[in-house]
Amino acid sequence: MRLKKFIPKILRPLFEERDDGNDMIPPKSMSFVGKGDFVKIGLEFRRHFIELAGLRPEHRVLDVGCGIGRMAIPLTEYLSPAGGYWGFDIVRQGIDWCSARITPKFPNFHFQHSDVYNKHYNPDGQVRACDYRFPFEDDFFDFIFLTSVFTHMVPADLENYLREIARVLKPGGKCLITFLLHNDESAGLIRAGRSDLDFVHEMDGYFTTKPHDPEAAIAYDENAALLFFDRCGLAVEPPVRYGSWCGRAQYLSYQDIVVAGKRTAA
Ligand SMILES: C[S@@+](CC[C@H](N)C(=O)[O-])C[C@H]1O[C@@H](n2cnc3c(N)ncnc32)[C@H](O)[C@@H]1O
Repeated sequence: MRLKKFIPKILRPLFEERDDGNDMIPPKSMSFVGKGDFVKIGLEFRRHFIELAGLRPEHRVLDVGCGIGRMAIPLTEYLSPAGGYWGFDIVRQGIDWCSARITPKFPNFHFQHSDVYNKHYNPDGQVRACDYRFPFEDDFFDFIFLTSVFTHMVPADLENYLREIARVLKPGGKCLITFLLHNDESAGLIRAGRSDLDFVHEMDGYFTTKPHDPEAAIAYDENAALLFFDRCGLAVEPPVRYGSWCGRAQYLSYQDIVVAGKRTAA
């Protein structure tokens, strides 16, 4: 771009052109959602949402911690006008991008910023995640997902989010959530040096790779994580689909995947 030198550096990513012409996909320099192929991972999860949790085109969907649209973009080609997508995140830049690039083309896709504190992602946030009430009414969504979000949240925050998920899910609605689960197999692989993530620091109810910035990466004991679901009104639908993050030979995805349904009153 010949005019590039006149554009302030911070705004340049907005003018970067993509080879495939899809201007909803952010340039690499703007993405903060981790390594890996942005497009492939979004397509992979759309398949998991459909095959593991029964997502349908007419569903109302909530993406908690929606980042910069990695999961929303492939859903634009799947959800029908009868369905809808709502995403919120604590990083303003991701919400601004998605609101500018996705909503004008797909008005049933909504993005909202939440000023929730997270030491790693939003250290100036004003609301504690353990107190945050999702900005939606009860029983509103058919399907809720969190991809690589509880891998950055401490136990009190995770528990409140699971309660909120149960509140805003319709009876019979489903959620799909990724984790890094500490169990005998993953602990053995970590000890053997096979894991990408070295969860050797045990904190209060979780493991981290960085005790000074614990929310950079958090693993939960598998049994403790599944108990949280139960306590919060969500029934886990086995099996847990284990991931390759710790060096497993057999896996479905990179992180571990848990599917659960909203428990109906007895
Ligand atoms: C690794 S990124 C994943 C983003 C997105 N889910 C995806 O898969 O592309 C982790 C995301 O979690 C978000 N996050 C962390 N704590 C959060 C919280 N308490 N509420 C909502 N989002 C949160 C971060 O802002 C960040 O966008």
